[in-house]
Amino acid sequence: MAENPRHPFLQGLSKHRGAPPTVVVIFGASGDLTARKLIPAVYNLGVDGLLPADFFLVGFGRKPIPDDEFRTMARDAIQEFSRRELHPESWARISAGTSYVAGGYDDKAAFDRLAQHIAKIEGKINREVQTLFYISTPPSVFAPIIENLGACGLAGRYLRHAHHTKVIIEKPFGRDLDSALALNTAIRRVFEEHQVYRIDHYLGKETVQDLLVQRFSNAIFEPLWNRNFISSVQITVAEEVGVGTRGGYYEQSGCLRDMIQNHTMQLVALTAMEPPGSYDAEAIRDEKVKVLKAIQPLNVMPGGDVARAQYIAGMIGGKPVPGYLAESGIAPTSATETYAAIRLSINNWRWEGVPFYLRSGKRMARRVSEIAINFKRPPGTLFAESGGFNLAANTLSFQIQPDEGLSLILNTKIPGLETRTQPVKMSFRYATTFGSNTPEAYERLVLDAMIGDGTLFIRGDEAETSWKLYTPVLEAWATAGRDGLDQYVAGSWGPAVGDTLLSRQGNVWRQP
Ligand SMILES: NC(=O)c1ccc[n+]([C@@H]2O[C@H](COP(=O)([O-])OP(=O)(O)OC[C@H]3O[C@@H](n4cnc5c(N)ncnc54)[C@H](OP(=O)(O)O)[C@@H]3O)[C@@H](O)[C@H]2O)c1
Repeated sequence: MAENPRHPFLQGLSKHRGAPPTVVVIFGASGDLTARKLIPAVYNLGVDGLLPADFFLVGFGRKPIPDDEFRTMARDAIQEFSRRELHPESWARISAGTSYVAGGYDDKAAFDRLAQHIAKIEGKINREVQTLFYISTPPSVFAPIIENLGACGLAGRYLRHAHHTKVIIEKPFGRDLDSALALNTAIRRVFEEHQVYRIDHYLGKETVQDLLVQRFSNAIFEPLWNRNFISSVQITVAEEVGVGTRGGYYEQSGCLRDMIQNHTMQLVALTAMEPPGSYDAEAIRDEKVKVLKAIQPLNVMPGGDVARAQYIAGMIGGKPVPGYLAESGIAPTSATETYAAIRLSINNWRWEGVPFYLRSGKRMARRVSEIAINFKRPPGTLFAESGGFNLAANTLSFQIQPDEGLSLILNTKIPGLETRTQPVKMSFRYATTFGSNTPEAYERLVLDAMIGDGTLFIRGDEAETSWKLYTPVLEAWATAGRDGLDQYVAGSWGPAVGDTLLSRQGNVWRQP
């Protein structure tokens, strides 16, 4: 297999986290996610030498697709979407073990055929293989697939061995507390929790993982990481794009379900959790659940902890764009929020009195995701702003996308004969230090699941805790309809209600 040139800083780091012989079965193999992310992720793991020597890829779907055609589809997907060019030798190795099984997701006989297909692969190499199922279908068929994996016996294979069956489940994991509980019940009837990998691809992003490394490997942060030194935390997940062709999906989802309940809450948990006892999936996830459970229920009344809005026509990148209600597939009276802002209070020793502000929206001024830790201002006795000094509170920000990195705002003296101050930004950029061709989130996540490391996946109780917090908000908004739904101009940083959520406590959104 072609050796890939590595950035000098990455040389010498371990490349091999060994997975046993594996069959990855993708349900929904003709879909968009499979082509854009999953097949390229598998390919790039192959190029990096991270797939086991005995590796097989099986597509599964309702559409009958001959093996050859599926291999062509996979090759085309790599050519179009992979971060690296298609290397014939690397592809030939994966292609040789790639096949397709057709059948309905609720058809037990099709799953029996899939089981026979996997048994045949084992027979051919004369070794036991672990099976990693990747459920990449619309959520309406998550439960039937899981049930059939149980019924055909594939779920329980080699259960007490490291190469037991594993299953990755795509988002959305439910649409409220009841549906998430129902899905967890369906899963627990068939799988043990350690076999289940609920995906939130945000956790596969480098900067998100780096948050734990920064917090717990640099001794300077931990003494400051609490209510004595931090005044607030702001998490922004802003998109420039509108709903595009996905209006039908977005109408059923909205910003709270699409972004806040999952991605931003993962960022909250990693920022606010206590240090775990070890760098181990269960220890980390125990701490995440503990801090999520310490969040106070949200006040959904006007002037409370939540704000929502919809974009109206505006300008993005100098070009006019339509408002949400004029997008295709959107009801003219839609009350779906395209922006949500939340103020969280964490009721524990570390965070009492420190607001966590979250905001996310479509058609905002710029695509950016960041976590900003705002530190308290120093006492103004020496360099008082009233004395003409230009001072900022220190802010540590983790930039998750784009331009991944970390920056710290410090006050400094302007060179010259007078003592004048100015805030400056000290920055670290991944691309500058480590090169820009970093693995995509899905590569890390597929590899971790193959190896059996659930650290970067969501545990069942984590998903339930988050839904418990947000379901009353969804219910209140559904009841209110368009009453209380604010507007913001496309291309802006959001509505006035988002600003007042902070200004009531004397805060403003940081300009990312
Ligand atoms: N696309 C993304 O960027 C993205 C990002 C994050 C998460 N996700 C999640 O990943 C999953 C897959 O997304 P996707 O965009 O790939 O979906 P998709 O293209 O709409 O569907 C994937 C496949 O599922 C089957 N399918 C479609 N509609 C179905 C239905 N009503 N009933 C049964 N099967 C159906 C189809 O395969 P067959 O007809 O061959 O069976 C289809 O090719 C979803 O849960 C989505 O929320 C997607």
